[in-house]
Amino acid sequence: MDLHLDGKVALVTGGNRGLGAACAAMLASEGARIFLTARDDEKLTETAQAISGSSGAEVGAMAVDLTKPDAADAVVEAAIKKFGRIDILVNSAGASKGGVFWEVPDQVWQDSFDLKFMATVRMMRAVIPGMRAQGYGRIVSIVGNTGKQPPSTMLPSASANAALLVVTKGLADEVVKDGIIVNAVNPGPTRTERMATILNNIQQSSGRPMDEVEKDFVSNIPMKRMGEPEEIARLVTFLASDMAANLTGISITADGGSTKALA
Ligand SMILES: NC(=O)c1ccc[n+]([C@@H]2O[C@H](COP(=O)([O-])OP(=O)(O)OC[C@H]3O[C@@H](n4cnc5c(N)ncnc54)[C@H](OP(=O)(O)O)[C@@H]3O)[C@@H](O)[C@H]2O)c1
Repeated sequence: MDLHLDGKVALVTGGNRGLGAACAAMLASEGARIFLTARDDEKLTETAQAISGSSGAEVGAMAVDLTKPDAADAVVEAAIKKFGRIDILVNSAGASKGGVFWEVPDQVWQDSFDLKFMATVRMMRAVIPGMRAQGYGRIVSIVGNTGKQPPSTMLPSASANAALLVVTKGLADEVVKDGIIVNAVNPGPTRTERMATILNNIQQSSGRPMDEVEKDFVSNIPMKRMGEPEEIARLVTFLASDMAANLTGISITADGGSTKALA
């Protein structure tokens, strides 16, 4: 199947590792040109070189902290300076702490909304004028299944995810006339560094062997396993392509069957 991604320009936030890097690599393997952003410049360079080495794609990068109000505009300006346009935005920057509701301080709520929610909103706002002018755009946000099924100990990130699903639908309605489609992917637990840190913390505090910790962790997932980054990247690449031209304002959940709902 030809996804018609040859020569398209994809800007990927959270692009130096985890799900963002997997999405960037898959988009590049389908012929897209890539612009990555995250804070860690060294890791950005390493990932950019790896992607361009394996796919032959042209890859640019810029290190910024997306919680800073001007960062989204600066990244979009740099990507347009390098490639002349942006066809695809993949939002994957995010990191959030959890905890028991009455023990979670204001700052954790604030940090969750500053990064996951506000950075995504600002990135969308920054790319849309160019996409409107060219009459074409694909925006895919990696949100999370907690936005629909909130675990009581993950409410700051789950709330930011729920808010992003609202923006995904409302914004999709607004920009569809300009040839821009806006969708989201909701992963369940997926094997990235962030998940490795969570499992390591459980292992250290419980003193149990890692294979037992992981078995326990996935015991409530119908498929009894975590997702793999490539599984999320495949969905994102599909939603970023012309194969998804008739889908907008939706989210696709990929969580091994964890979400108990009909839609
Ligand atoms: N993995 C999962 O199980 C899972 C499940 C559901 C949803 N998600 C969502 O998927 C997204 C990606 O998750 P992941 O597992 O790939 O996480 P990850 O491995 O921790 O990667 C997070 C990415 O965000 C970047 N980032 C963090 N803070 C930033 C900031 N202030 N400014 C700019 N970039 C920043 C990181 O790079 P730097 O640190 O260098 O900035 C990194 O590239 C997140 O939004 C997460 O909530 C993940």
